[in-house]
Amino acid sequence: MDAGLEGIVAAETVLSNVDGERGRLIIRGHEVGELAQRASFEEVVHLLWQGFFAELPSQDALARRIGEARARVFQKLPRPSSELLGLGPVRILRVLLALLSDDESLDCAIELAAAPAVITAWTERARHHMPLNSPDPAQSHAADFLTMLSGHRPSAAEERALNSYLATICDHGLNASTFAARVVASTRAGLGSAVVAGLSALKGPLHGGAPGPVLDMIDAIGTAANATRWIEAALDRGERLMGFGHRVYRVRDPRADALKATVQKLPREAGRLAMAEEIERVSLKELALRKPDRKLDTNVEFYTALLLEALQVPREAFTCVFAMGRVAGWIAHAKEQIATGRIVRPQSAYVGPVPQLVS
Ligand code: ACO
Repeated sequence: MDAGLEGIVAAETVLSNVDGERGRLIIRGHEVGELAQRASFEEVVHLLWQGFFAELPSQDALARRIGEARARVFQKLPRPSSELLGLGPVRILRVLLALLSDDESLDCAIELAAAPAVITAWTERARHHMPLNSPDPAQSHAADFLTMLSGHRPSAAEERALNSYLATICDHGLNASTFAARVVASTRAGLGSAVVAGLSALKGPLHGGAPGPVLDMIDAIGTAANATRWIEAALDRGERLMGFGHRVYRVRDPRADALKATVQKLPREAGRLAMAEEIERVSLKELALRKPDRKLDTNVEFYTALLLEALQVPREAFTCVFAMGRVAGWIAHAKEQIATGRIVRPQSAYVGPVPQLVS
């Protein structure tokens, strides 16, 4: 057996297909690049949830309900305490998500989809002792998040860029966090529990925790001229380069290109992008030299880091913004798993000691 379940098919899904050989990602019948160019968060939620909620309203009505849910979630948040704020953004998000509803209804799903944006902005403001901004249900989810976070309305390009990111990462086959969410949903624990499980898996640096460390790496390298020396030394120490490698993709992650194209459209990013491109070039060259048998290429997290930095999201909150988009997929997968009517319960091979027989 493979401890990482590599190559094991553990679910049938209509939600997304990751073609690791060809570097192609299809999300409910759409190429990821197409969604990245035009879809909003609200649109991908509607796309992913179709067929899983009998009473799913029209896209516009769903968008309205997500906006109203943001306002409700804000009302439910506790007063910020130093104990809570000391946990850090992802753990705060986990604690506060756990306060929300936890059944299998559409209302619960909408509240959970709305919540990460509100909680993440609330957390960042509270951690830095800034006045808390309440949501505006009339704004788009992406624009409202950026407004709550910064205190001013984003430009159309910034709103589009965040939507592009959220659409790009809304779902991705049976990744670790989605698998965790499906396992929990299969026990009928509720959508809130499934989302908290998904977030807990996402938190790790090998999954959704990577983009913050990508920026740390770019900052530590400092200049394009320093890239080769720094990367060689990191690999000599046996470290992994954040933003590279993937369990399924044997070629470049198509989301990397979708997000790079988005970053290129943002003003003032040219210098940072040029340095990142050089770091990427050197990393790929070194990885190919050192791991010739395992094709390691750029993954989604590399350009996620640049994009979220350009949107002035603090790097410690990157994983929370990932959760803002992926929550749509977790919920759809949870409902898809529930519809199978089967609890996920694989087996293990016992390799431990056996009791001695007493004669
Ligand atoms: N840098 C250096 N070496 C690497 C990297 C990397 N980024 N990725 C894999 N390797 C090496 C491994 O150390 C291993 O070497 P070994 O055979 O000498 O032990 C070899 O390549 C094969 O790697 P696996 O461990 O089989 O890769 P796996 O499929 O288990 O892991 C993962 C995939 C976790 C993404 C890995 O590539 C990694 O740690 N990357 C860096 C973290 C990262 O960017 N995570 C985000 C992934 S995308 C997402 O989850 C949203």
